Amino acid sequence: MKTSRRGFLQLSASSIIGYSALGSPLFSEIAEAATGYTGQIPICQHMTNSHSAQLTVLTNGSNPYAYKVYDAKGRPQAIQIWDHEIRKSYHQGIDKLYVSGLEPDNSYYLQVIDKDRGTVLDERKFKSLKLSSRSNVRFALVSCASDFFTTHARTMWDNLFAQKPDMIFLIGDAVYCDFRCATTEENIWRRYCETRSRLRHFRQPSLIPTLAVWDDHDYGRNNMCKTFKYKVSSKRTFDLFFGSRNTDGFKRTMGVGSQLTAFGHKFFFLDDRYFRDEAQSGGMMWGGDQQELLLEKICENSKPTWLLNGSQFFTGYHKQESFAKDYGKNFADLLTKLRKCDGPIAFASGDVHFSEVSSVDPKYLGYRTYEYTSSAIHSINFPVQLIYRNPRREEFTWHHNFLIIDSTAGRNAMQIKARSINARNKIEFSHQAVIRRT
Ligand SMILES: [Fe+2]
Repeated sequence: MKTSRRGFLQLSASSIIGYSALGSPLFSEIAEAATGYTGQIPICQHMTNSHSAQLTVLTNGSNPYAYKVYDAKGRPQAIQIWDHEIRKSYHQGIDKLYVSGLEPDNSYYLQVIDKDRGTVLDERKFKSLKLSSRSNVRFALVSCASDFFTTHARTMWDNLFAQKPDMIFLIGDAVYCDFRCATTEENIWRRYCETRSRLRHFRQPSLIPTLAVWDDHDYGRNNMCKTFKYKVSSKRTFDLFFGSRNTDGFKRTMGVGSQLTAFGHKFFFLDDRYFRDEAQSGGMMWGGDQQELLLEKICENSKPTWLLNGSQFFTGYHKQESFAKDYGKNFADLLTKLRKCDGPIAFASGDVHFSEVSSVDPKYLGYRTYEYTSSAIHSINFPVQLIYRNPRREEFTWHHNFLIIDSTAGRNAMQIKARSINARNKIEFSHQAVIRRT
């Protein structure tokens, strides 16, 4: 029987990653993919600019891989394993790859090779990304990805990749370290490996650059703050699996926080765990140094800014963490300082297992802005809109969903279109706003 390349790729993908839902966006992606695609090996693309890309590969501890990268004409590219780790307690590890010498907005192919046999085990397509040529960006905003929701751990990511965002921003609970197990360093490592194996984010034929910051569950334990016993080891694990090293457009800040400067915007990923004081103790959410660094960087110029944080900013829901509720004095002080910055600011958060768009009254920053909360892509959810009432809420869904945000930077303004996409690949809500610094 003769099988076309497309047919072969569909068959191999279906057998290897257990795919059954015909008509899913994943199939068209497979048809476009690199010829060696099998989806066998979990791979993630991280910070990428016009000349470099960073990737991670989940490895099998006993059998290290070799790697090759080439362009569409078959020309090889420079690639370096710049960090890696395997631990005695578990059979899987991580390789961190740095690919350099890329041309702007070009396609490349990463091959994972069996060192002993020389055969190609898997192959993925990725692109370099020119960060400075335009002032609009499409990003996916995602939180709360429990690998125990096995069906949606597959289909939600196919839906997300089909939206073709420029980048994916994971803002917390990308790994549930503490689910059904004791909090130990060994379990944290195991849960990172298991989650990487189970989410189809990491099996996509064509990769999308993903930046991440953690919240409590990928930090290690529910609602933990700076006193968490395993925070140093946990940070190392998060950095290995999700971190990027400094490059043009990207700078690590404090904890697992970072700053991305791209597409006419600034994006600040805030670490809301490593330096966090106890809730309602009169302390700080980000710690003094991280907050000072943020304010210094925001005030450098008037570029439109996104602040991305695991916990919500402005809400005060009973039994949910938030900056306003748990660190009221710190939050009021922060808003007074943000009010003095020249550029418009939008807020992005996750954590609460529902999505909403909430208006932020001009009394806080001197102009109307919005908080976009995206949660959960696949985790425990309930219809909580009546329990958690919010008069400032303009849109809401409790279904599994993620946000696709189109943000355009203008002079003292940003135009934002947010869409919530659900498990049926349908729009749950759509919201448009202009944030203008007056
Ligand atoms: Fe969560």
